[in-house]
Amino acid sequence: MSRKILAAGNWKMNKTPSEAAAAIEAMKATCASDEVEVLLCVPAIDIPAAMEAAKGSNIQIGAENVYFKDSGAYTGEISADMLLDVGVKYVILGHSERREYFAETNETVNAKMIQCFAKGLVPIMCCGESLEQREQGVTMDFIRQQVKVGFLGLTADQAKAAVIAYEPIWAIGTGKTATSEQAEEVCKGIRDLICELYGKEVAEEIRILYGGSVNASNAAELFGKEDIDGGLVGGASLKPDFGKIVNYK
Ligand code: 13P
Repeated sequence: MSRKILAAGNWKMNKTPSEAAAAIEAMKATCASDEVEVLLCVPAIDIPAAMEAAKGSNIQIGAENVYFKDSGAYTGEISADMLLDVGVKYVILGHSERREYFAETNETVNAKMIQCFAKGLVPIMCCGESLEQREQGVTMDFIRQQVKVGFLGLTADQAKAAVIAYEPIWAIGTGKTATSEQAEEVCKGIRDLICELYGKEVAEEIRILYGGSVNASNAAELFGKEDIDGGLVGGASLKPDFGKIVNYK
């Protein structure tokens, strides 16, 4: 199996452009790695400064959202062409915070997935259950629905290139990490679903990340699981300590 571990940060709504540049300068040395792909998804306005600061390092800069239309009267939105123009490859889609606070649905996430592939961006599609859903025993039903609808209309080649991030909502920003067994169980369930939808080859190639209170002390155990191909890291990606997650081994 040749899936490269992806250590991705999600900065959410943190850091101004100048703070972003300074943070990345400080992270360059700690995040160096030949084995792990390193990505920081930052606020759109920070992207040019972050790109400039990351030059000459292995840190890639991605986005946290994109709109599904090409251009036009959509005040406040960012298009795929705008992201591509500043050198972005990866974009996070359907984060639970966007679903909760900005009315993102499986259908809008799907439209954005389609747009990413039409334009040449690589989506990191988030999914994950609430505590209530976990307690009701419907975790996998809920996540299967999110992934199935999110991937509607994607070809096998597109699905293979996409990244999925499993982020249980109850583990985000709470310091309460899913156990590596819980995370592995769901990531495997997602891979099984991709196998049902697209076959074994796609299932073996697609990268599935875990997110939710990933830190320097739990990364090794999580990333060591068979179906976990890295992490989507919030709080711990804001500091040079992120390098410890990159170099988790
Ligand atoms: P934390 O790592 O801060 O829990 O956030 C996880 C997350 O939401 C990444 O997208």
